[in-house]
Amino acid sequence: MDLRSLSFRTDLIFSELLGNVSHDGENWIVKEPKAPSYYWGNFLYRDHPPKNLAEFRATEIVFRNSFADIPGIFHVAIGWHNETIEVLPETQRLFDLSRTEGYEVTNDVVLRFEGTIVEPEPRFTIKALESDSQWQQSRDLAALCDATPHVGNYGAFVHQMYQRYGMMVAKKRGQWLGAYDGDTLVGQMGLIWSGNLGRFQAVETHPGYRCRGVCTALLRRVLYEGHKRGLENFVIVAREKHVERIYERVGFTACERQVGVHRSDAQKKLRS
Ligand SMILES: CC(C)(COP(=O)(O)OP(=O)(O)OC[C@H]1O[C@@H](n2cnc3c(N)ncnc32)[C@H](O)[C@@H]1OP(=O)(O)O)[C@@H](O)C(=O)NCCC(=O)NCCS
Repeated sequence: MDLRSLSFRTDLIFSELLGNVSHDGENWIVKEPKAPSYYWGNFLYRDHPPKNLAEFRATEIVFRNSFADIPGIFHVAIGWHNETIEVLPETQRLFDLSRTEGYEVTNDVVLRFEGTIVEPEPRFTIKALESDSQWQQSRDLAALCDATPHVGNYGAFVHQMYQRYGMMVAKKRGQWLGAYDGDTLVGQMGLIWSGNLGRFQAVETHPGYRCRGVCTALLRRVLYEGHKRGLENFVIVAREKHVERIYERVGFTACERQVGVHRSDAQKKLRS
């Protein structure tokens, strides 16, 4: 059985390799035990959102029972399919309902590549991240580009994220490219893949180097490298409209929304 959401399907590329995925007839249960603090590595996915509060509470319980075997999970995360680029009424209803229960909402645009891939003009020095010092620069750049306020042990979270990136690269199911000014990493981008499907990750440009085409050059290079590997479908997720526009100019087209709700302390509360 296929999971309908294109974006969640690409999230499973990580869990296929680093965790496990099961289906209980209603919910997909996606686990990455080595990255317990990553909500969207440890979540329930449904083709349709819970219809009402009773169904929502029942889904929370399924989450609690399904993740009881993984120490360090203190959240609840539930995602579902929203097949249009607009927020569907049933999605909006669940957003409203879950907010009253203290949840935060994920509501991002998913884009699929529909352009033509050609060898890009060399505009910046772009190379694959390989050495420990290059990966350290990558972590530093990620921290610099992250405007999200974080609660809890953010350092441990970043450590887990980078462990999983490194494992994907080591298993030859991912590549991280960096754009350099001399020895300084000024932009980065990852791609992970399964079969002929690739999903972009960690799209970041150093604040001092923005609006010079670094991201655009990396997108073109990553697409080209992916195409050379035999990938035919590429997916990227945009949180903001101006970022969506950058992707569209390169040849991506919005096709659905990635939606879900998460709550950081909910699991703890459910246990008590
Ligand atoms: C999103 C992000 C990666 C864009 O990086 P960037 O390198 O500035 O992107 P680009 O330079 O390729 O394109 C950005 C803009 O510069 C313009 N531009 C491209 N080349 C240019 C050039 N040579 N000179 C001037 N402007 C240029 C683009 O047209 C685009 O214009 P817009 O503002 O109208 O969209 C960067 O803002 C960032 O790191 N943000 C924080 C992390 C983030 O949000 N990542 C995306 C997660 S979904």
